[in-house]
Amino acid sequence: MKKSLFLAFAVLVAVSVFVGVQYQTVAEPAIETSAFAEAAVLGVSNLEMVEKISAEWKTSDKAFAQVSTPITNSPGQREGCTHCHNGMVFASGVHTNGVVGDHMTGLNCQACHTGTGEELMKAGKLNVSMRHFTGTYIKSDFTEGKAGKGALCITCHSGRRDPATNLKGYIAGTNGMAYSHYGQGPIIFGQGAMPIEGVTFKTSSAHASIQDSCVACHMSDTKDGYASHSFKMNKDNVATACGTCHTGAKDFDINGVQTDMYKKLNIVYDEIKKFSGAAEVRTSGSTGFTFHKADGTAIAYKPTPAQYTLMYNWYLVKGDKSKGVHNPQYLKSVLSESYKAVTGKGLW
Ligand code: HEC
Ligand code: HEC
Ligand code: HEC
Ligand code: HEC
Ligand code: HEC
Repeated sequence: MKKSLFLAFAVLVAVSVFVGVQYQTVAEPAIETSAFAEAAVLGVSNLEMVEKISAEWKTSDKAFAQVSTPITNSPGQREGCTHCHNGMVFASGVHTNGVVGDHMTGLNCQACHTGTGEELMKAGKLNVSMRHFTGTYIKSDFTEGKAGKGALCITCHSGRRDPATNLKGYIAGTNGMAYSHYGQGPIIFGQGAMPIEGVTFKTSSAHASIQDSCVACHMSDTKDGYASHSFKMNKDNVATACGTCHTGAKDFDINGVQTDMYKKLNIVYDEIKKFSGAAEVRTSGSTGFTFHKADGTAIAYKPTPAQYTLMYNWYLVKGDKSKGVHNPQYLKSVLSESYKAVTGKGLW
């Protein structure tokens, strides 16, 4: 027993030595790759790998189906939501209504590794006939076959809106203020913002050409050599996720882009609070954006079309949650141009 414990310890030390070496040789990706292959060999058995993966998955928001009050209103159960918010509905391909087998499930192993999820990973491209794209502006595979395994993630993280039509409806008075519903996929490919007449947003294809897209950055290998399953970006993986291109990167705030974006998002939020007279702006499914006093009471305010566009695009950039990283040029351009349309001056 003691002997095997000692051996396990020796292996751990060996792994950390390899990891140490790999961090010092960030500028040489060839060495880095072979160090990880070694770590995989030294690291863990298949069972241990699945145990570790399961433990990571449990820390993610994907583990539980999201519920609301009343329970029938839950994204995990409600018509129009389950195909993204309920793992077994997604996997089954029955994207019509309700739950499968009368149970609400989170996004579990089966959601991604069986049925629809498995098919998307294998196909490596979007299937725009899926319900996920109904009512959106997305009519073809905007990744042009570049999604790889990321096609799985992009199908749900696709924003769920048709902003040009939303804006027309808002001006005509036929619909309220929809908010962007988490479109990291389109953003990477330079899409998804509410358009501004006469303006073409800048974009960069740099992060769109990364093989397997989301999966490459968000599921980069752990030190034990398997794909990480917390889905959140992990600072320990900066070298593998970014270092191959951004040599020597120590964190995600490359050239201070995240710090800068955070500041600019706050400037825009201050502007929104200024023109609406609100102390707080909230998002809600049925009414879109709502305005509130400091004590929480709602205020009635009707933004101009340019103000609504600024709010939509501010939430697009904020709700993307990468603080500019996914597509730095696009996210800056969208925020700046929308701000300019309201205030007359840009942000960069
Ligand atoms: C096309 C896929 C898709 C559909 C359809 C969808 N969602 Fe979501 N939803 C997401 C994603 C992806 C996230 C979170 C992404 C993130 O954290 O960046 C999310 C997050 C949320 C959140 C938490 C964040 C917030 O805005 O408060 C709520 C609540 C929510 N969805 C409600 C709903 C409801 C209600 C419906 C149906 C009326 C629905 N969603 C339909 C993909 C979808
Ligand atoms: C079946 C739809 C679906 C698929 C497929 C999907 N997501 Fe999500 N994702 C969601 C929803 C819905 C949420 C919000 C969950 C909640 O708040 O209840 C979410 C949340 C997240 C979050 C933030 C919350 C957290 O703590 O985990 C990340 C990061 C994420 N997803 C990344 C990914 C990546 C990477 C992939 C592909 C490997 C992926 N997602 C595939 C629907 C999906
Ligand atoms: C949101 C989608 C998603 C969920 C949920 C998910 N996986 Fe995965 N899994 C993936 C993707 C994508 C890959 C491929 C990663 C790659 O190729 O880098 C993968 C890879 C794997 C691998 C191979 C790892 C390797 O590096 O060889 C195993 C094993 C695995 N998953 C097990 C699980 C288990 C067990 C669960 C549930 C606890 C689970 N997965 C939940 C998306 C998911
Ligand atoms: C170039 C690498 C890269 C790619 C590709 C990428 N992301 Fe991210 N993502 C990031 C970084 C960096 C952050 C910010 C992490 C931080 O600041 O802690 C982030 C943040 C997020 C967050 C907020 C939760 C978190 O991890 O902090 C979600 C959700 C997310 N990304 C989803 C996606 C989805 C879905 C895709 C594919 C469409 C994707 N990302 C592709 C690098 C990437
Ligand atoms: C496949 C190579 C590649 C990978 C991997 C990659 N990037 Fe990039 N990134 C680029 C290129 C090329 C540019 C410059 C392109 C542009 O902005 O037009 C860039 C630009 C950026 C910028 C803008 C820099 C500035 O000064 O404006 C940030 C921030 C950034 N990347 C963050 C990240 C982070 C964080 C990761 C890892 C999570 C990452 N990148 C992974 C290739 C990559």
